[in-house]
Amino acid sequence: MKNILVTGGLGYIGSHTVVELIENGYQPIIIDDLSNTNIGVLERLKKITGLDVPYYQNDVCDITVLRKILVDHQIDGVIHFAAFKAVGESVQFPLKYYQNNIGGLVSLLHAMEQCNIKNIVFSSSCTVYGQPDISPVDENSAIKVANSPYGNTKQIGEEILRDCSFLNAVALRYFNPIGAHPSALIGELPLGVPNNLVPFITQTAAGIREKLTVYGNDYNTKDGTCVRDYIHVVDLAKAHVKAIAFIDKNSTNHFEVFNIGTGNGFTVLEIIEAFETTNQVKLNYTIGDRRAGDVEKVWANTDKATNTLGWKAALDLNTMVESAWKWQLSLS
Ligand code: WQD
Repeated sequence: MKNILVTGGLGYIGSHTVVELIENGYQPIIIDDLSNTNIGVLERLKKITGLDVPYYQNDVCDITVLRKILVDHQIDGVIHFAAFKAVGESVQFPLKYYQNNIGGLVSLLHAMEQCNIKNIVFSSSCTVYGQPDISPVDENSAIKVANSPYGNTKQIGEEILRDCSFLNAVALRYFNPIGAHPSALIGELPLGVPNNLVPFITQTAAGIREKLTVYGNDYNTKDGTCVRDYIHVVDLAKAHVKAIAFIDKNSTNHFEVFNIGTGNGFTVLEIIEAFETTNQVKLNYTIGDRRAGDVEKVWANTDKATNTLGWKAALDLNTMVESAWKWQLSLS
């Protein structure tokens, strides 16, 4: 496989994956409707890789455009990132999420089937586990009823892939991606007020936000704040390249899921501490009420990805928070 269609390839995880694909000899082609990113990312990808990556500003729900790209570029495989991903917004506007996240996936799969393309890596999420009974969670851990339409679109997406027997598919269940490319040319670009912890931390440290509110410190954890498995976005991007190689070598494979995390859980206060110490900045934060829908603690067992994909996260927490801060500083 050489020619890889990357839907949502100008987004946070998509753009980092495009860099890793190029560095591993693949030819990515990007389709992105710019609903959650900006065209400047394309130029920055050229600065990092030296290449003009073919790009189409289109909606993945447009099956005619998809078919043309798949044929014109002789696509061998697809990495599907294009989806809305804000948990809170999905509760407010469920139909927007089902239309885009499920409709987009179905259009893509229709176009792939019509063009006889079967290889796909799907962006899934640890939200499929809900609040697990125990952590670390492995891929056989119970799938809980989704606590948001966003999480439900990931569960439904996996079921659709499982039901399409013509596919050679992998779903990567991301834990919490944070950080940015070491060049500080690409990173997380939340539009508006960040929902996620680390961009809120970096914007607070940069003076864009007045203070961070820690959502609850009365959980049953070491310091009362929630535990998550934070993973460097570059490690996550590398996992996609390994997944492409896996489906290339295993053409009879139909559908596999893999946890993509570090296997370590950190509390919110530990993230703040690491950020302050690594970057020598003081963060203004207060303890507030719990956030509805938050899972108390979840982190990954990643043995399957290590043993089957030959992938393991390599970058530590200090590197994650240092790269996040360097990226934030590059924006000012
Ligand atoms: C992490 C922790 C918050 C903000 C979500 C999606 C998941 C994935 C990543 C896409 C929690 C706490 C946060 C703040 C805080 N998205 N927090 N103050 O909720 O684990 O996962 O984003 O794939 O699918 O569900 O990430 O960064 O929002 O929160 O205290 O201002 O930080 O309570 O404990 P989350 P998060």
